[in-house]
Amino acid sequence: MKKRTFTFSNTSVDYFFDADFSHVEKLAPKENAVIITDEHIFAKHKKKFKGWNTIVLKPGEQYKVQQTVDVVVDQLIAFGADRKTTLIGVGGGVVTDITGYVAGIYMRGIRFGFAPTSLLAMVDASIGGKNGIDVGVYKNMVGLIRQPSFLLFDISFLKSLPKTEWQNGFAEIIKHACIKDAVMFRLLQKHKLSDFQKDPELLASLIEQNVLIKTKVVVGDEFEQGERKLLNYGHTLGHAIENMYELSHGQAISIGMTYAAVMSQQLKHFTGAELVVNVLEKYGLPTFAKFNTKKAFKILMMDKKKDNVSINYILLEKIGKGVIQPLLLVQIQDIFKQF
Ligand code: GLY
Repeated sequence: MKKRTFTFSNTSVDYFFDADFSHVEKLAPKENAVIITDEHIFAKHKKKFKGWNTIVLKPGEQYKVQQTVDVVVDQLIAFGADRKTTLIGVGGGVVTDITGYVAGIYMRGIRFGFAPTSLLAMVDASIGGKNGIDVGVYKNMVGLIRQPSFLLFDISFLKSLPKTEWQNGFAEIIKHACIKDAVMFRLLQKHKLSDFQKDPELLASLIEQNVLIKTKVVVGDEFEQGERKLLNYGHTLGHAIENMYELSHGQAISIGMTYAAVMSQQLKHFTGAELVVNVLEKYGLPTFAKFNTKKAFKILMMDKKKDNVSINYILLEKIGKGVIQPLLLVQIQDIFKQF
């Protein structure tokens, strides 16, 4: 196990790489902790939860809503959770979001940590402190930015991960490569999904690299005034179409990254759109899928990150270099008409 501590604006977070889940007990004693997980993880890893107060949620993005928060709060009260309690989210992005959000509001804020169990949660959702819930078609409409006390990466959780979940994780990994790391982009070109699935060392190193990319960006700009916006590459359109078509997050942002790469070609003289598309396809992700451009634009207009006339769209200058490009809403509307 390797421990690294990162300092954010008003807290520090301990990261445990190559860790075993059992180490969690050292970070939060069982008598003062409540685990939040979902039915899938609970069923697959029952033994791990022995002796822990555990709240088991229904799995799926459709449960990342206020009603689930209410249920969790009721159960915390029933467990007698108080200000000394640590909440531990053991699961994918839905579980970590709900856990972080509830920890932020329960008794005006209690300690929390994550043991992410999906690739997506390991390289993205568990990192950065943004934790929230969806409201209707609007993703993460309500939430907060508050860092966990610890993150524990136990890659043995990935053994039971379904293929679509691997693809979800790789969508965010490809995103990191596109905006920040040309060397990692070449590594992804060189390998294929099964290479990482078969080789725990290769996988652990890829996860650590991605955790560090995201962490470095967030440490530099925790409250998304600038650089952190780069992490939204593929997400502006991706979020709009994710719920419209019941796509997985990875599929949605993959389509978003594809069209953003094409836009980068038109607006930034980017020459690597084909390379981006090839890598996405190599990892089983959709690229030029057709979508209802009018409806997507309408949802995009409601995006919480826009002012009234423009949106900060993330484009690529070259592979490994994302840029923030303010675009007028009318300009986006025109561009979407071509798609
Ligand atoms: N929880 C994901 C993020 O902060 O970006």
